[in-house]
Amino acid sequence: METYRHSSLLHGCVMFVFLATISKACERPSSPQCFRRNEEETVYTCEWSLNTTEENVTFDLHINKTLFPNIRNTSHKIRAELLIRSRSVDIWVVAHIGNSSCMSPRRSVTLKHIVKYEAPRNILVSWGKNKNNLILRWPWPAAESYPAVAEVCLRRDGHPSESWETRLTNVTINESMYQINAMNLMKDSVYQVKIRQRSNKCIEPLWSDWSSVVIVPAELEEKPEITTKIRRINGIREVTLTWRHMPSAAAVKGVTYNLSDTQSSHGCPCMNKKTKNTEGNNYTMYVSYSAVNISVFAKNDAGESPKAIVQVPAEPAEDLKICDNTSLKKKITRGTCLELYEAENAALSPKNVITLTARNKGHQTQVKDYIRYLYFEHTCDHRKPRTVKRCFFYQKEGVPIREPQDFLAYGETDTSVDLSWKAISYTDQRGFQTHYNLCRVKITSRDDKECFNISTSKVKYHLDKLTPSSEYIISLAAVTRVGEGPQATLTINTKTEKSFNVSLSFGLVVGFFLLSTMCTFIWRRIKDKIFPPVPKPVIPEFNPCRQETQVPERKETVDDLTLHHLDPGEKSNSEMAEVTTFTEHWNDGSNEEMQSEGSDSEGSINESLNPGSTRQALRSSREREVTEIEQVDTELAMLIYKNGLVFDMKAESP
Ligand SMILES: *[C@@H]1O[C@H](CO)[C@@H](O)[C@H](O)[C@H]1NC(C)=O
Ligand SMILES: *[C@@H]1O[C@H](CO)[C@@H](O)[C@H](O)[C@H]1NC(C)=O
Ligand SMILES: *[C@@H]1O[C@H](CO)[C@@H](O)[C@H](O)[C@H]1NC(C)=O
Ligand SMILES: *[C@@H]1O[C@H](CO)[C@@H](O)[C@H](O)[C@H]1NC(C)=O
Ligand SMILES: *[C@@H]1O[C@H](CO)[C@@H](O)[C@H](O)[C@H]1NC(C)=O
Ligand SMILES: *[C@@H]1O[C@H](CO)[C@@H](O)[C@H](O)[C@H]1NC(C)=O
Ligand SMILES: *[C@@H]1O[C@H](CO)[C@@H](O)[C@H](O)[C@H]1NC(C)=O
Repeated sequence: METYRHSSLLHGCVMFVFLATISKACERPSSPQCFRRNEEETVYTCEWSLNTTEENVTFDLHINKTLFPNIRNTSHKIRAELLIRSRSVDIWVVAHIGNSSCMSPRRSVTLKHIVKYEAPRNILVSWGKNKNNLILRWPWPAAESYPAVAEVCLRRDGHPSESWETRLTNVTINESMYQINAMNLMKDSVYQVKIRQRSNKCIEPLWSDWSSVVIVPAELEEKPEITTKIRRINGIREVTLTWRHMPSAAAVKGVTYNLSDTQSSHGCPCMNKKTKNTEGNNYTMYVSYSAVNISVFAKNDAGESPKAIVQVPAEPAEDLKICDNTSLKKKITRGTCLELYEAENAALSPKNVITLTARNKGHQTQVKDYIRYLYFEHTCDHRKPRTVKRCFFYQKEGVPIREPQDFLAYGETDTSVDLSWKAISYTDQRGFQTHYNLCRVKITSRDDKECFNISTSKVKYHLDKLTPSSEYIISLAAVTRVGEGPQATLTINTKTEKSFNVSLSFGLVVGFFLLSTMCTFIWRRIKDKIFPPVPKPVIPEFNPCRQETQVPERKETVDDLTLHHLDPGEKSNSEMAEVTTFTEHWNDGSNEEMQSEGSDSEGSINESLNPGSTRQALRSSREREVTEIEQVDTELAMLIYKNGLVFDMKAESP
């Protein structure tokens, strides 16, 4: 009061009158509500309200004739045994502010029937799988009266002009949670939601207070779109995953990305956290050289996106060796992990993987004989998995159980054949194949056997140096370090092409001789008929010129030869050949000259022999160069010489 006086003195009488009015007339408190929180509660709560700025307020609560005085709050808890519950009672409250007192309206209630639930708290929202329904769940207080009814108020976020839409729905219980569904919403929109609830079991239920407003983000419909970058650092692979941010409607309250990988979940070799969370849009993790699947999904308040799975295959290796020694038989230390993939083919896909760590050594018994394994040895290096060894491993080796399939021969010639086959699968090899053993046996002489080692990588071979027109048995078998497997065999026949060639060429030679003989014969006849009459006027002019100037020596030798052979009636091939060749070359010589005139038909050859034309040629050529004729004659001489050799050979051959 002193404060008021002081201020009234300072500010004058208007202020004093105002203050007096306030302290005299007070607002009426609302009529109180008295209830239990549920049917089982033994404590009643009475609540009321008063619109005042005054700090020093006290209340008296009246329930019929019972008084609960000097209450400083606007609510009061009363034990049930202090109350009349089974019949109607009047309740009211009196507020005391300063010197004045104000009484609330009275209310008649039967306390037994009155239940008011707590406002829903800790509401969880999630988008349903279908029908665009939103599922709202909140904790079900232990042993609370059920069933209940809820009222949901919703409106789209960011649309303040939209009014709240109210829906009344029955509440179900699922896994110790109250649950309601709000149907036919738009999953790609952000909603504001609030809920209140009440019992529908008691006679006079009261609505609970409204829950606080919950923001429901849109559904994460798409899985993260991931790009992967891998860096190899001495047995460790650094995998950097990057993805695009989620749509803003889904990310309205933030999105968390959850990452997990198959290596961490197996604890091979590092016992790292199995899942990692990040709010950013990239993550770097370290994996070993064995295959790993990394799954990423986004999470918001209303659910999870589908999972994106990044499959990082085992690091390819060109030249995997055979394991010299492994840690299989040794004690596996902590931080070491062995992995064995059943290798069916060259693709290093993880199949029937056996993982061996310090904890589960028992799996060692799973390692089977005759099976090729891809062996990995990893260690954990400062929480990063490092692959220290990779090789092919057999617990026990055998010989191949199958012969090479599709063993075929093609392209047979007289001395060679091409072979092809299919590589033997790792499963059928049952050991490390060192090479193929290819053998050929000539059927007629069994002793003529020859074998070749062929590289394992080959599926083709050109087998040569065979004898023509022969039958061979060819066998092919895969060989492992233990021994040779079954053979694939086939029989081939080499062709007789070479002997055919010989007879063909022989025939050609004979044919050539026959032809040339005939030609010579015909030519002689023609020459006899045509030549003699014509040369007489011409040759005397021509002959002296040639003989005098050019080739007295050579003509002499030619004449000698010709005369010798022409004399007798024996018409050996050789004789004919020589004569023929001589004339032919004579023709050639004249042809060379004639070619400048552009004629090369048979008629022109005859013409060229015609002395008239020869004379023409001579006239021009004589003036040109003597050497040209010399050349022609030298050729003539050489050709005769060559023919002489041929003649000799022919003479020898028959
Ligand atoms: C409380 O009082 C203020 C002014 O003092 C008034 O504006 C407001 O409406 C009142 N509220 C209620 C619920 O009576
Ligand atoms: C409130 O009122 C009581 C008496 O009713 C008095 O003793 C007390 O000093 C007052 N407090 C304030 C803060 O005005
Ligand atoms: C309030 O009561 C006190 C004595 O208790 C008195 O001195 C004071 O004048 C009264 N104020 C009003 C406004 O009635
Ligand atoms: C709630 O369930 C009762 C019966 O179980 C039913 O009569 C009532 O219509 C339901 N109310 C709503 C809003 O679904
Ligand atoms: C109960 O809740 C679980 C999740 O906690 C959900 O998977 C299941 O579908 C719910 N059951 C019903 C009937 O809604
Ligand atoms: C990765 O996922 C694929 C497909 O589900 C599966 O075949 C493969 O075995 C998985 N790899 C690993 C290392 O778990
Ligand atoms: C083939 O290889 C094996 C083993 O490498 C060897 O013992 C054998 O002599 C080889 N045979 C031939 C024909 O090279």
